[in-house]
Amino acid sequence: MKIVIAGAGAMGCLFAGMLAEAKHELCLLEKDAGRVNAIRCSGVSIEREGAELQVTMPSITSNVYDTGIADMLLLLVKAYDTDNAVQACLPVIGPDTTVLTLQNGLGNIEAINKYVPQSQILAGTTAHGATLLGSGRIRHAGRGDTVIGALAPEGAPRAHAVQAVFQGSGIPAIVSADIHSVLWGKLLVNVGINALTAIMEVQNGRIGDIEHLHAVMERAVHEGAAVAFRLGIALPYIDPVARTAEVCRATTDNISSMFQDIRSGRHTEIDSINGVVAAYGKRLGISTPVNRMLTCLVKSLEFVAKT
Ligand code: PAF
Repeated sequence: MKIVIAGAGAMGCLFAGMLAEAKHELCLLEKDAGRVNAIRCSGVSIEREGAELQVTMPSITSNVYDTGIADMLLLLVKAYDTDNAVQACLPVIGPDTTVLTLQNGLGNIEAINKYVPQSQILAGTTAHGATLLGSGRIRHAGRGDTVIGALAPEGAPRAHAVQAVFQGSGIPAIVSADIHSVLWGKLLVNVGINALTAIMEVQNGRIGDIEHLHAVMERAVHEGAAVAFRLGIALPYIDPVARTAEVCRATTDNISSMFQDIRSGRHTEIDSINGVVAAYGKRLGISTPVNRMLTCLVKSLEFVAKT
C-alpha cells in the first residue's frame, strides 16, 4: 500500500517510523522546511523504554507533487490545520484513495468531507502517546490500540485493509462499526486531560494523584458526557471519568499534546476539544461552565505566548 502521511509532528513521526520499519512505500509530507531537512538527513528517531530506534525515511517532502496518488493519506496534522492540509493534499487524493484521520478532537471529518466523498473517509483514534523532542525525534511514551472505522457501511473493506497494514507493522488495530462512539470516547478523555495538563504544566499522571485536579477533570468530563448523551452517542465505556483516569495512569509520564503545544508556543486544539463541548452545550441548552472556562484559559495562554 502506498501511504502518504501529512504532518511530521509527534504522531506523524511515530506512525511514519513504524510503517517505514515495516518497509511500506511511504512518504511523509511536512510544510516546515527545517523539519523536512532534519528528517531527510537523520531519519526519524524513536526513544522507547530507554532504547533509541533510528528509522530512515524513504521519502519526505514539502511538495505534494513529489508523491503521486496515494492508496492511503493519513492525516496527522493539528485539528485546526485539517481544512488547509486536505486542500493542499488534493494532488495526492485519487478516486480510490482512502483518507484516514487519527487526529484529536471533533470537526476533522467535516473538514475532510468538504473535498473528499464520505465513502473514501475513515476516522479513528490512537491511544499511543508520543512527545516531540525535536525535528524527527520523539519519545514513544505509551502504547495502545488504534481504532478505525468507516463513516458508511460501504467503507468497511477500506477499514479492514488499513487494519491489516497497521497490524503487519506492529500497530495493534481494531475496526469499529460505530466510529462516532469511538471519536466521542476519545474526545471525553482529551476533554479531561489536555487543557488541564497545559494549564497546570503537569504530566498526565498528575491528574490522577492531585485530588483537586481530579475533581476538575471529573466536572469537565461529566459535562462532555451530558452533551454526548443528548446527541444520542453511545460511548464505548460505561464510566467516562474512570476511563479518563485509566488513560492518565497508562500515559502517566506523557506530556499531553496540548501541553506540548503551549510549551512550544504553538496554537492548540482547544477549539476542537473543550471548545466543541462548550459550543454543543450552548446549542443544546446544556450547562458546560468548566469546559467554557478551560477553553478561555487555554486561549489566554496562547495569547500570552504570542505577546
Ligand atoms: O492528546 C494527547 O496527548 C493524547 O490524546 C492523550 C490521550 C491525552 C495522552 O497524552
